[in-house]
Amino acid sequence: MNIKNQKEYFNNTYERWKEISNEKDNIINKTVNALGISKGDSVLDVASGVGILYTALKYKQLSNYIALDISEKMLEGLKTLYPEAKTICTDFDKEVELGEEFDYIIIFNSIPHFKNLDIVFSNAKKHLKSGGIFAIVHARTREGLKEHHKKIGFNLGREAIPSDDILDKLVKKYDFKESIIEDEDFFYFSCIR
Ligand SMILES: C[S@@+](CC[C@H](N)C(=O)[O-])C[C@H]1O[C@@H](n2cnc3c(N)ncnc32)[C@H](O)[C@@H]1O
Repeated sequence: MNIKNQKEYFNNTYERWKEISNEKDNIINKTVNALGISKGDSVLDVASGVGILYTALKYKQLSNYIALDISEKMLEGLKTLYPEAKTICTDFDKEVELGEEFDYIIIFNSIPHFKNLDIVFSNAKKHLKSGGIFAIVHARTREGLKEHHKKIGFNLGREAIPSDDILDKLVKKYDFKESIIEDEDFFYFSCIR
C-alpha cells in the first residue's frame, strides 16, 4: 500500500483516527511535559488529524492553539470534538504563510506523510518565535514503525522517520539550536529557534 493523495486518503479514513490508546495517551502526556508547554504558550499542531494532541493540550490554558491539517474532514472531526479550537486547512509540505508565530510547532505521529522535509523545516522556522521549539514525535520508534509498516504492507519508498543525519543537516541549514533526538520508547526530536 502507498498513499498517493494525502488529502483524499485522510478525508476518506478520518473516522479511524479518533481512537486513542492508553499508550498513545501516555506518550502525548510525556511529550507535552518534556516540551514544558504551559499556561500562556501558543502551539501550532501540524497534521493535527482529529486533535489527538489536543487531548492533553486543552488543559494547558494556552494563549493560542491552531490545528493545521491538509484534510478538511479531519478538521471537521476535530471541530465536533473541540469547537473552541482554531483550524487551518493547508498543505505543510508546501511553503505556507500563516501570518503568526508560535512558541511550539509540533508534528505528532505524522512525519512519515511529509515528503519535503526541507520545506517542513523552513515552514517551522518561519512560524516560530525566537526561542520557540520545533518538535517531531512519533508514538513508535524508527524500528517499531518500520516493522509496523512491513506488517501492514505500507511502502513509502523512503525512511518513515528521518535519520539523525538528515535531521542534523536540516537543523544546521535552518540555524536551529540544541537539537535532541531520542529513539528508545518512542521517537522524539526537538530543536530551538
Ligand atoms: C496518521 S494521521 C495523524 C494525525 C494526528 N496527529 C494523530 O496523532 O492522530 C496523519 C495526518 O497528517 C495529515 N497530513 C498528511 N499530509 C499532510 C500535509 N502535507 N500537510 C498537512 N497535513 C498533512 C493527514 O491529513 C492526517 O490528519
